[in-house]
Amino acid sequence: MKIGILTGGGDCPGLNPVIRAVVRRAIQSNITVVGIRNGWKGLVKAEIIPLNLQAVSGILPRGGTILGTSRTNPYKKENGVPAVLETFKKLGLDALIAMGGEDTLGVASKLYKEHKCPVVGVPKTMDNDLSATDFTFGFDTSATLAMEAAERLVDTGRSHRRVMVLEVMGRHAGWVALYTAIGAGADYLCLPERKVDVEDMVRRLKEAHARKKVALVVTSEAVDLGETGKEELDEFGHMILKKRAVGEKIAEIIEKKTGIETRSAVIGHMQRGGAPTMFDRILGTRVGVKAAGLAAEGKFGQMVSLQGNDVVGVSLDKATGTLKTVPTDWLALADLVCTGCAGKAKALASR
Ligand code: F6P
Repeated sequence: MKIGILTGGGDCPGLNPVIRAVVRRAIQSNITVVGIRNGWKGLVKAEIIPLNLQAVSGILPRGGTILGTSRTNPYKKENGVPAVLETFKKLGLDALIAMGGEDTLGVASKLYKEHKCPVVGVPKTMDNDLSATDFTFGFDTSATLAMEAAERLVDTGRSHRRVMVLEVMGRHAGWVALYTAIGAGADYLCLPERKVDVEDMVRRLKEAHARKKVALVVTSEAVDLGETGKEELDEFGHMILKKRAVGEKIAEIIEKKTGIETRSAVIGHMQRGGAPTMFDRILGTRVGVKAAGLAAEGKFGQMVSLQGNDVVGVSLDKATGTLKTVPTDWLALADLVCTGCAGKAKALASR
């Protein structure tokens, strides 16, 4: 048996542990593994590298992906899908393990449904916004890095008696911002799941600053500031969010309305690099072994999912159906510990 493996979409820490685990599990069943270069692009162009024990040696603690990645969507390229099917034949692939977020897994799901392509999905995203899995690897490392960055901002903010704003990634789900804010003890949290209440934010920050001579705001890159206008889109139709400079805009509003000197910082792609945390190494290893196992057993059209503490296979369809956004009980918890808003805290206490 021969299986291919690809990583698509934005990279995140934990991809290399998965690749390593797939190869090690495949070897156990005498399966040959080839790496597809640069996501779906490599399958369109038949660009591969052989993967064996030697090739994956030492990659466990390394950030990024040794295979390279891209945001190529074969469904958006002329002859993209026929080229993918042709490469399958040419390489003699019996299975493909596709690692990615909703975009990459969406393509995998369509190829399975429309062309019976033997695919197994592995959920990957630092945004943690995939349904049908409790956590995705990459999230823990990224949110931990953001939390540490936030703490550094507080150190310098305290010296200068400033309000500090940290903008984090996460697209249209606020998980990264939520965990960063709770973990760093932020004074205000702005999420895409609700519109920013500017007056409430200003009041809370004034209070926090009066008490501590510093205040921290964590904002997600996709927060709604009531703006309109044409947004630039990628091949999957997603907004390129870094162009919105949300953190900078929030800092300007705060400085104007509070009269307190305010600075903003964007952690950006630094959040996606670096060694994976232990959690992401273990989760990556577990999902890699499971994915190779599903492929070996011929269980296609499935995605590996973390449910509680179990790693199981679920239908790819389920995985790509709806975005997992931050629910109201988490918002209530964040309000309690981040903004100290008595009214909202009461609502939480009575649950
Ligand atoms: O989906 C992962 C992610 O890191 C988002 O949080 C972010 O908006 C986006 O990718 C950035 O994409 P790119 O690397 O293409 O700039």
